[in-house]
Amino acid sequence: MSKTIIISNRLPLQISISEDHLEVTPSVGGLATGLKSFHKDGDSIWIGWPGMTEEEIPENLKNKVQQKAREENCVAVHLNANEIDGFYYGFSNRTIWPLFHYFMEYTESDDDYWHTYKEVNQKYADEILKHYKEGDVIWVHDYQLLLVPNMVREQAPDAIIGFFNHIPFPSYEVFRTLPWRDEVLQGMLGADLIGFHTYDYERHFLSSVSRILRHQVDFNQITLPDRIVKVDSFPMGIDYKKFEQAALDHYESTSADQSELQKRLDHHLESTPDAKLILSIDRLDYTKGIAHRIRAYEYFLDKNPEYIEKVRLVMLAVPSRSNVPQYRRLKREIDELVGRINGKFSTVSWTPIWYFYRSMPFENLIDLYTTCEIALLTPIRDGMNLVAKEYIATRTDHTGVLILSEMAGAAHEMNEALIINPNNFEQVAEALKTAFEMPKEEQIERNKMLQKRLRRYSVEKWAGDFMKSLRSTKENRESFQSIKINSEITQEIMTKFQQAERRILFIDYDGTLVNFTDKPENARPDADLKELIRDLNADDKTDVILISGRDKDTLGTWWKDVPVELISEHGVWMRQIDGEWELSENVKSEWMDAVRPVIENFVDRTPGTFIEEKNYSLAWHYRKADPELGEIRANELSTTLKELISNRGLSVLEGNKVLEIKSSGVNKGKASTKKLVGKDYDFIFAIGDDWTDEYMFEDLPEDSVTVKVGIKKTSARYYVEGTLKVRTLLENFRKNN
Ligand code: UDP
Ligand code: G6P
Repeated sequence: MSKTIIISNRLPLQISISEDHLEVTPSVGGLATGLKSFHKDGDSIWIGWPGMTEEEIPENLKNKVQQKAREENCVAVHLNANEIDGFYYGFSNRTIWPLFHYFMEYTESDDDYWHTYKEVNQKYADEILKHYKEGDVIWVHDYQLLLVPNMVREQAPDAIIGFFNHIPFPSYEVFRTLPWRDEVLQGMLGADLIGFHTYDYERHFLSSVSRILRHQVDFNQITLPDRIVKVDSFPMGIDYKKFEQAALDHYESTSADQSELQKRLDHHLESTPDAKLILSIDRLDYTKGIAHRIRAYEYFLDKNPEYIEKVRLVMLAVPSRSNVPQYRRLKREIDELVGRINGKFSTVSWTPIWYFYRSMPFENLIDLYTTCEIALLTPIRDGMNLVAKEYIATRTDHTGVLILSEMAGAAHEMNEALIINPNNFEQVAEALKTAFEMPKEEQIERNKMLQKRLRRYSVEKWAGDFMKSLRSTKENRESFQSIKINSEITQEIMTKFQQAERRILFIDYDGTLVNFTDKPENARPDADLKELIRDLNADDKTDVILISGRDKDTLGTWWKDVPVELISEHGVWMRQIDGEWELSENVKSEWMDAVRPVIENFVDRTPGTFIEEKNYSLAWHYRKADPELGEIRANELSTTLKELISNRGLSVLEGNKVLEIKSSGVNKGKASTKKLVGKDYDFIFAIGDDWTDEYMFEDLPEDSVTVKVGIKKTSARYYVEGTLKVRTLLENFRKNN
């Protein structure tokens, strides 16, 4: 039976050794806490690191670690101290984490870290492959494993692979500073579906792919030579029922069942009945804005001294990544800040901040969530922030006020919270005051709306939606209109070719016989290509026609010494084997003077674009423009031109990063079918990569062998991935000539 393979750096369980015994505790952090219930309910295994270095686990306990993991359907990947240094503390948490959270000044670029990161990613990929069986779905998680999707793809090309990034994806301007940006993007693109928490992260990623790798991006799809990758946003939810139920149980519990923490919290509330508790929970991470939060709280107390003794900040900071210098420094800073502020405001019976530096068991988290009337969560940058959602889910009487940073992914879905900019102390202090004064009815109204949404879009729904979308990528792959040419199909085509008496081959040039280059004049045919075309045409039974959008002079010069028929400018001109060019009937050129200035205006406004002037057409090329600006301007120009040329017998062709204006009725379909008139061809072949080649695929007789280059929507019967595959196919014709 097929299963899901979940893979993340950290397993949801942490294994530690205490007096020769293994202890298992749950992992902290949104990824592990969120995904745990999906794992528990489904048929899946989870591969990841159990939290100790190889050196820390005595030899005699290694099997036991694996056994403990197995009991929870997990597989432990052992990492040694060196690997943890370079991969985890190094590249993951000193390079990617700060960069993706816009802390560029903390971002280190170290070749050794990168090396280890690659090695460890390979280790994870190898572990997946050990467990992978055809039909399984692989789901890779987070920034520690960015290279894994492609590493798996290389070994299992047909696998269904999903990738979810739990942290922000930064804007292109920030991401581009990473020295290994190409490799990182290529690694991620091994997946069939790439998910982010918000549309902003998705759009930043798409923009980086299009600008850095220059792949074609259409809405949320990326076209690679052999595959399509889908990108989408899926805001992660929580196990809503679990938190709601835990809160309900908490209220039902008797005082004898109460935790020590709850007793202390209650004592505080009893001694000062109109006092309120403000809750703050995060891993101790510089992205969480903890220091800013404390300073804003200080500002609030300075400004509103009437709240002294009436309010308390309960701050839980969970130890995290303490081998990274910034985290150690932050720990010192927070200790000092808490000390200073407690010193400044404390009275005999009151301290403004209760500070806990540890992680707490689930029951204590519920104590905190249910007891604190206000939650103050002010990250400077946060992929999602599940604590905000958990807090709201536990407020079963619908009271409580959530103050949430607009920089957290969760803010996109939690508009009814008090949304603040964490860098604006004034605003944070204002929000605290608003929270204190907010009437119960308003709290209830806001929270009911939040709860309705969180209940509906739970972690179960989140994972279900991701999986559904991932599976549909496989169906799309299978239902792709054209068929990939494999060795069997090549054989079938070759048999037809051999059996035919009269053959004709229509071959497009750019993007088919040669790759695109930044400058069109650099795409000259190489000697091997010329030899290949010459040989193909040498057989009396075979006619080869190069059919291109290029102007006749370039094409004529490049193929001057090769006896081959040429069709240029999509059919405006045809050159016979003897070298004479003939003009197609019905072409006009008097319109060009009126249209040229319009295009020139777009060239002026769009850096990197230029006009190609042909005898009977004008082409605007935007391959070298900024991809997003290029697409916007292409749409604009196309609309402008269509209005300008209406009823003038002209048409606008939208090619591969080019718009071309020419006489209607001249296209590759008309030009190629004209070549068939009066001839008795029993093998017709056409190949091309561009939108303009679709005219050929549609107009040629139905039994023609039509081939698209690259994966795009097409009327062609077959497709091949790229120019190298085109050459291989043509080589086969040469052999069978
Ligand atoms: N959490 C925990 N123990 C603690 C404190 C927090 O298990 O002592 C959990 C909390 O319930 C939440 C997660 O850690 O599910 C934190 O996730 P969040 O998305 O807020 O932040 P992250 O740590 O992933 O950046
Ligand atoms: C965030 C990351 C997770 C990570 C967690 C805890 O939620 O997105 O990938 O597991 O923090 O961090 P740690 O470094 O302890 O695994």
